[in-house]
Amino acid sequence: MDKQITFGVLTVSDSCYKGIKQDLAGPALCQEIDNKFPTSKVLFQEIVPDEQKQIEHTLLSWCLQELNVIITTGGTGCSPRDVTPEATKAILEKEVPGIAQVMLSNSLAITPKAMLSRSACGIRNKTLIINLPGSTKGARECFSFISSSIPHAVALIN
Ligand code: MTE
Repeated sequence: MDKQITFGVLTVSDSCYKGIKQDLAGPALCQEIDNKFPTSKVLFQEIVPDEQKQIEHTLLSWCLQELNVIITTGGTGCSPRDVTPEATKAILEKEVPGIAQVMLSNSLAITPKAMLSRSACGIRNKTLIINLPGSTKGARECFSFISSSIPHAVALIN
């Protein structure tokens, strides 16, 4: 039996936060987590706008809850409002750049636009934080490339 891993899923999107667009990536990731890790639990799921301080605040408060993994989706690109990697790096204690490298190298085989994602990944306290792109397709794909290493990463961190 797998150890229970606790997750938080944070959607970063102005339009989803305002209700202009439905958040599909967040629920899709919860489903992927459930499929891949049936004994694990998504304890927190939230939508925040593309505001660096608000993203940092939510990440910090979830880290204080000692979640094992926080997955973010959205705000990793190159538009002026995309600040998820900046917010993530501001609160990380250690970066784990290999996770983003694996996502990038696998994603480039699917779309050259993958080079536009600036995902940051790393550790704060006992929590692994992983930035995924905002499209449901991109988030699903990137999760599938890195999810098999999550249990080992969580074991190492703890
Ligand atoms: N990665 C994968 N695997 N599949 C995708 O469809 N979309 C890309 C990229 N990474 C994509 C992907 C696109 S089009 C963009 S603009 C960037 O992720 C950043 O997306 P974000 O700003 O929504 O986070």
